[in-house]
Amino acid sequence: MSPEEFRIHGHAVVDRIAAYMEQVESYPIMPAVEPGDIRRKLPAAAPEAPEPFDAILRDVDEIVMPGVTHWQSPGWFAFFPANVSPPAILGDLLSSGLGQQGMLWSTSPACTEIEMVMMDWLIDLLGLPEGWKTTGPGGGVIQMSASDSTHIALVVARRLAARRAPVGELVVYTSNQAHSSIEKGAAIAGYEHIRLVGVDGAFAMRPDALAAAIERDLANGLTPAAVCTSVGTTGTTAVDPIRMISGIAAAHGMWHHVDAAYAGTAMICPEFRHHQDGLELVDSYVVNPHKWMLTNFDFSAFYVADRRPLVDALSILPPYLREQAAASEQVFDYRDWHVSMGRRFRSLKLWFVLRSYGAEAIRALVRNHVRLARELADRIRGDDRLELLAPVPFALVAFRHVAGEDATDRLAAAINATGHSYVTSSELDGTRFIRVSVGQTNTAAAHVERLWSTIDAAAKPT
Ligand SMILES: Cc1ncc(COP(=O)(O)O)c(C=O)c1O
Repeated sequence: MSPEEFRIHGHAVVDRIAAYMEQVESYPIMPAVEPGDIRRKLPAAAPEAPEPFDAILRDVDEIVMPGVTHWQSPGWFAFFPANVSPPAILGDLLSSGLGQQGMLWSTSPACTEIEMVMMDWLIDLLGLPEGWKTTGPGGGVIQMSASDSTHIALVVARRLAARRAPVGELVVYTSNQAHSSIEKGAAIAGYEHIRLVGVDGAFAMRPDALAAAIERDLANGLTPAAVCTSVGTTGTTAVDPIRMISGIAAAHGMWHHVDAAYAGTAMICPEFRHHQDGLELVDSYVVNPHKWMLTNFDFSAFYVADRRPLVDALSILPPYLREQAAASEQVFDYRDWHVSMGRRFRSLKLWFVLRSYGAEAIRALVRNHVRLARELADRIRGDDRLELLAPVPFALVAFRHVAGEDATDRLAAAINATGHSYVTSSELDGTRFIRVSVGQTNTAAAHVERLWSTIDAAAKPT
C-alpha cells in the first residue's frame, strides 16, 4: 500500500469510525451471534494473493460488525467503563504510524520523555505524592494493564522479602473483595501463600483482621511480604483504609501496593481525595486511565515511591543494548520498568486527550457520572422491592431484588434483553446482585432514566 493509497483508505477508515460513534446507540449492545459464527465466515487459510482494500472493508461490515459488543454505547452499565475518545484514537493512530520502540531513551527520546512528563502530569491531576514524580526518588510508567502493574509490584516485593525468608514462606495479603488480578499476579510471581482478609460492613479491608492473619502466619513460621489494598473494589467500589494498613505494613517490613484501577480517575476531582488518604506511605500504586479517563485501552499508570528496587528487579543489560543505554539520571530506560522489552508510544494518546479536553472537562465527566449513579441509588433506596447493597462512593450502584436470587437474575436478564442497556451481575457472600456502572463517555441522564424505567417495570410488585 503506497502512501497515496494509505491516505485514501485511511480516510475511509476514519470515516467509518466517525460513523460508528454517531450510530453506536442504535445497535443492540450484545451481538446476536453464537460461538463459532464469526470464525465460520473466515477462510481457513491466509490469502496468497493481495485483495483490494474495499473487499477488506466489506468484510468489516459483514463479518466484524455483527460480532462486536458495543462497549461504547451510552447504555453500557456493565463491568467498568473502557472509554475511548477521538483524540485518544488519533494519538494511537499516530503512535502506530511513527512505529517507535521506546525501550531505551535513545531508541526514541520523544517516546520516553513525553511518557515521563505525562506520568508527572497525572501526579498533579490526581493529587498523588510529589515524591513519585520522575524528578524525585520514585516515578511512573505506562503498563498494559492494572494486572501487569500489580504483578510487577509483587515481583519487586518478592525480591526484597526473599532476603529475609525463602520464597515458599512469603505471604501476600489482600481483601476478599480485591480484584482477581492480585491473586493472579501473586501466583504468577511464585507466592504460595495468599490470604484474603475479611472486610467490614462497607466491604473495606479490616485492619484488625489483617493484623490477626499476620500474627497467625508469623506463629506458623511464615513471613509477611506484601499487602495489596484497593481504592474502589470491582464488586462495590469499596475503599480500604490505606493509612491504617500502611502502619501494619511498615511494622512488618511489607511492600504496600494500592490498586485504584477504576476509582483513581475520580481523584481528578479534589472532593474524592479523602479516599486516598495515606498514599504517601505506600510503595506502589496503579490507576487505569483506560477505564474512565477517555484514553483507549491500553494505558495503565503504575507508580513506585522508590524506583531503585523496581529497576534492580527488572533490569538486565545485554551487550547489544549497553552502548545506547541512558547514562544520564535525567532520563529513564523504560524497558527496565516492565516485562517486555519493546514498547509503544502510548503517552501520545493521553497527551492528545488532556490537551484536547483539558482537565476541567474530565472533572465534569466524572462528577456527572457520580451524580447520575447516586440519583439512581436514591431511587433504589426508596423502592421497597429493591435493596441497595453498598455505599456509592463513586459511580457504581450495587443492588438486588428483595425477593431473592431468581428475581435478581430475572431483573438483570430483563435489563439486558432491552438491547439498549447492559449490566453485569456478581455475588457478595453468596448473594447475587446487579452492578450498574455509570461511566461510558456519552452516558447522560436520559440513559440512566431509561434504565430506571426498565428496572421499575421489570421489578414487579412483591
Ligand atoms: C479494581 C480493579 N483492579 C484491577 C482490574 C484489572 O484491570 P486490567 O484489565 O487493566 O488488568 C480491574 C478491572 O476491572 C479492577 O476493577
